[in-house]
Amino acid sequence: MPLPAHLTLLGFAAAVVAMRDSRSACSAFEPTNITNVALTNPPTYFPANALVNISNEYSSIDVSSLPAFCRVELTITTNTTAGSFALTEVWLPDDWNGRVLTVGNGGLAGGVTVAELGHVAVPQGFAGISTNTGHDGDTDDGTWAGPHNDNAIADWGWRALHLSVIAGKEVVQQYYSTPANKSYYLGCSTGTLKEVQDFPEDFDGVIVGSPANWQTHLQAWSIHMNLNTEPSTSPHFMTEDTWNNVLAPEVMRQCDSLDGLVDGIINDPRNCAFRPETLTCRPGQDASTCLTPDQISALQRIYAPYYEADQTYIFGGYYPGGETEYYHGLVGKTQFKIGKAYFQFMVTNDTDWTIHDYNATLLNLTDELDVGQSNAINPNITGYVGPQHNGKLIQYVGWADQLISPGNSIYYYETVHQWTRANTNLDIDDFYRLFTVPGMNHCHGGFAANAFGGVEQASNNNPPLSFDPQHNVLAAIVQWVEDGIAPDNFTAANYNSNDVANGVGFTRPLCRYPSTLKYQSGDPNDATSFECVSNF
Ligand SMILES: *[C@@H]1O[C@H](CO)[C@@H](O)[C@H](O)[C@H]1NC(C)=O
Ligand SMILES: *[C@@H]1O[C@H](CO)[C@@H](O)[C@H](O)[C@H]1NC(C)=O
Ligand SMILES: *[C@@H]1O[C@H](CO)[C@@H](O)[C@H](O)[C@H]1NC(C)=O
Ligand SMILES: *[C@@H]1O[C@H](CO)[C@@H](O)[C@H](O)[C@H]1NC(C)=O
Ligand SMILES: *[C@@H]1O[C@H](CO)[C@@H](O)[C@H](O)[C@H]1NC(C)=O
Ligand SMILES: *[C@@H]1O[C@H](CO)[C@@H](O)[C@H](O)[C@H]1NC(C)=O
Ligand SMILES: *[C@@H]1O[C@H](CO)[C@@H](O)[C@H](O)[C@H]1NC(C)=O
Ligand SMILES: *[C@@H]1O[C@H](CO)[C@@H](O)[C@H](O)[C@H]1NC(C)=O
Ligand SMILES: *[C@@H]1O[C@H](CO)[C@@H](O)[C@H](O)[C@H]1NC(C)=O
Repeated sequence: MPLPAHLTLLGFAAAVVAMRDSRSACSAFEPTNITNVALTNPPTYFPANALVNISNEYSSIDVSSLPAFCRVELTITTNTTAGSFALTEVWLPDDWNGRVLTVGNGGLAGGVTVAELGHVAVPQGFAGISTNTGHDGDTDDGTWAGPHNDNAIADWGWRALHLSVIAGKEVVQQYYSTPANKSYYLGCSTGTLKEVQDFPEDFDGVIVGSPANWQTHLQAWSIHMNLNTEPSTSPHFMTEDTWNNVLAPEVMRQCDSLDGLVDGIINDPRNCAFRPETLTCRPGQDASTCLTPDQISALQRIYAPYYEADQTYIFGGYYPGGETEYYHGLVGKTQFKIGKAYFQFMVTNDTDWTIHDYNATLLNLTDELDVGQSNAINPNITGYVGPQHNGKLIQYVGWADQLISPGNSIYYYETVHQWTRANTNLDIDDFYRLFTVPGMNHCHGGFAANAFGGVEQASNNNPPLSFDPQHNVLAAIVQWVEDGIAPDNFTAANYNSNDVANGVGFTRPLCRYPSTLKYQSGDPNDATSFECVSNF
């Protein structure tokens, strides 16, 4: 049997030469003639399986399993008058698939998402782009924004990402001496419906997980949620023990069987009209096993959409099924830092502002300012999805999201659906599909089949079962854009204790909204025992 080429002496020598060529091409690379773009550092070449140990205030990676790539670090001037800039990286694999993938950020951060460049883009052959969004800082630090750091706020709101995509594509073209065939986006949370609405040329395919596309309302809602339980000395506060050991079992008792299987996962919480009053303390009952009227009315607000007094819709609520995580979301002991920082450093510019100063007037002011123009709520996305551009959009959300109500994903989808029907003869199914993930928390985690190729999954030890389009949302958008085959459902994996090292616990389909996941018959750990059905 002949040896594979790379094991023959000649093949080995050729590989060494090829690597030396890539290495020198990488270190000699300099972007030429790209306006407002310069190298931050000389490019660095990482041979296959070299140690890649890179970190910043937001994201880090420490692996020795990547294919060979060239790391290019750029400084992009975002406003020449002000001298504001963003740090952006482009990771260029030797074994390139001809596509670029931009990965997103989270919260108020503050750092190139090196984890996803390394865990998602490069291993699948994409040239990867990511920006620090114009400042350094972790997810919940807002001090960089104030006072009145308008350019940094605009960069975070949308500008750094847009300019990074333009510069990144140019770098890709110069490095490989040919333009990328297609441009994709994959992110969760701080996201990019903005590009879909305002810069349709940036991408051909976009995947957004639980997007923070309505910052003004999202941040107001996070304060509203906090106020439902804060302070921890108040009668409406509930301890972590109450969430985990009183609320969680009662939610499961009321709703777990509705999808045909008692398994600790509520497949579709739209079905579950959770009634916390069943937990009302009876005379003499141990207070740690039941709820007071104050706590019950707090829960009624927590599980309801948030409306202003005049019935203006503000945001969705929590959905039953994520109780064991909600204490660590917006209704626990510690105040939610992102919402508070947003109001302190961007809206009121008052560092003494506390969540107890929040009121409806402030919500109106927030909407009026829309600092950094970060809101991306335009239902008209025809510039991106219409016949001129033909872009595709996949969205997903975990039903047990503890940071951004799944109601937000549904609300945006429904506004686009309605607008499109009223104003065009396009069919939303041809360009925009939303998938719901039973039991998954914000972007990843939870007791759920929660591994399907989204960001923050592989980097948290939950890689997709395979890179094919049925198991990997990134391959699915590529197949939709390039071959016209739209995804109908995914097969997601749960790994025991959410760690691939422990083996697969179960697999489940992810259904396309508005359909719902029902158990049929057979092995409950096997996705083929379930169906997506339209009536829930
Ligand atoms: C630089 O870019 C400008 C504008 O795109 C173009 O007109 C010019 O020919 C370019 N110069 C070189 C040396 O490539
Ligand atoms: C990666 O860098 C960190 C910080 O410098 C260090 O603590 C860690 O040991 C490094 N990892 C490896 C595998 O060298
Ligand atoms: C650029 O920054 C200057 C100085 O802060 C500001 O006056 C101007 O409006 C900014 N331009 C844009 C397009 O943001
Ligand atoms: C771009 O697509 C064309 C047509 O499918 C293909 O021939 C070419 O190899 C692709 N380019 C790259 C760089 O992969
Ligand atoms: C707070 O600062 C931001 C950024 O400069 C500005 O847009 C906003 O108008 C300020 N808020 C108020 C209430 O003045
Ligand atoms: C609402 O909050 C703002 C800022 O904290 C304050 O100036 C205003 O007086 C408050 N309005 C009401 C009606 O309480
Ligand atoms: C906020 O704005 C809405 C719509 O413009 C208006 O109906 C409402 O009265 C305003 N609320 C406050 C408290 O100013
Ligand atoms: C929707 O957006 C497209 C592209 O920006 C624009 O041409 C069109 O006029 C818009 N349609 C309506 C009804 O506003
Ligand atoms: C997933 O989609 C495929 C292709 O349309 C279909 O055959 C299959 O029944 C779907 N699975 C579920 C669980 O809906």
